[in-house]
Amino acid sequence: MAPSPTVSPALTAEEISALTSEVRALAAERNALILAHNYQVPEVQDAADYVGDSLGLSRRAADVDADVIAFCGVHFMAETASILSPQKTVLIPDLDAGCSLADSITPEQLTAWQAKYPGAVTVMYVNTTAEIKALTDYCVTSSNAVKVVEHIFAEHGPDTPILFGPDMWLGAYVEKEVGRSLHVWDGECHVHAGIRPDDITTMRAEHPDADFLIHPECGCSTQVMEYVAAGDIATEGVHMLSTGGMLDYAKEHAGQGGTAIMATETGMLHQLRMAAPDVDFVAANERASCKYMKMITLPKLRDCLRDLSGEVKVDPALVERARVPIERMVAIG
Ligand code: 13P
Ligand code: SF4
Repeated sequence: MAPSPTVSPALTAEEISALTSEVRALAAERNALILAHNYQVPEVQDAADYVGDSLGLSRRAADVDADVIAFCGVHFMAETASILSPQKTVLIPDLDAGCSLADSITPEQLTAWQAKYPGAVTVMYVNTTAEIKALTDYCVTSSNAVKVVEHIFAEHGPDTPILFGPDMWLGAYVEKEVGRSLHVWDGECHVHAGIRPDDITTMRAEHPDADFLIHPECGCSTQVMEYVAAGDIATEGVHMLSTGGMLDYAKEHAGQGGTAIMATETGMLHQLRMAAPDVDFVAANERASCKYMKMITLPKLRDCLRDLSGEVKVDPALVERARVPIERMVAIG
């Protein structure tokens, strides 16, 4: 299990400015690329070379022209970067930044599950450890899970059994979209699962004309799809999106005003508001904050670049096998 994180004190504007200068100077000195996930605190996002969703970050990590990658995200993301670029030094500013979803399935559990379904194709969310990836046929992220599963049915036949994990809400969403049953693991992300149908009901009453941007890991996603199916919410106002997809929505709607209810981790608001300042982005649940993502701070990023500390290295015996499902995913899109 990931240890309980402690919340870092907020920085003043002057501290942020001085630390950002230090970080950028160290990145130049180390020939380092700073990658940050959309859930990072705003000042870390602003100091990064690239901010994105899991798929975008994997792509950048695979195609990097730097000696060092400083990964501002959680441990499995840095591990994925190291698998894709094993010759690079991959650093994470806090090695204890874990993920409750990645912790929800162990290699022993996956092996036992696979033994129950011989011949099944194993599809795992990228939010998993390297050991799990090494037992997986295809990885997915929230932005391409439907596409990857459709690809598997097209390639292996429509009756192919699929073991899908570890997120049960994403699994339920994919089942609805592809119109077929999968064997779905019952893991969840405590942050997204905590965004409940009641939050959506309250938000609909408060903002009747708002669009909904829903991350498929959310505990409200099934309910929202049911509202749409029942005609209670207009189909065109509901968007099931990865964090990168939400940013595309913001770019497309810049200058159009209006309100959008965002159901995902609240760090996402920073990029959305920068991309479309005239759109009123409202969090479906303001308590949806990932403590692990928030363990990464500017002082820790500065320290890891200065000391080359927090290196994430994957056992070379695992790298080759764990790379297969990630590369298959990146190739599909
Ligand atoms: P995406 O950025 O790929 O949508 O992933 C969300 C997430 O929860 C990562 O931990
Ligand atoms: Fe893991 Fe959830 Fe945090 Fe994403 S938001 S890193 S899935 S615990």
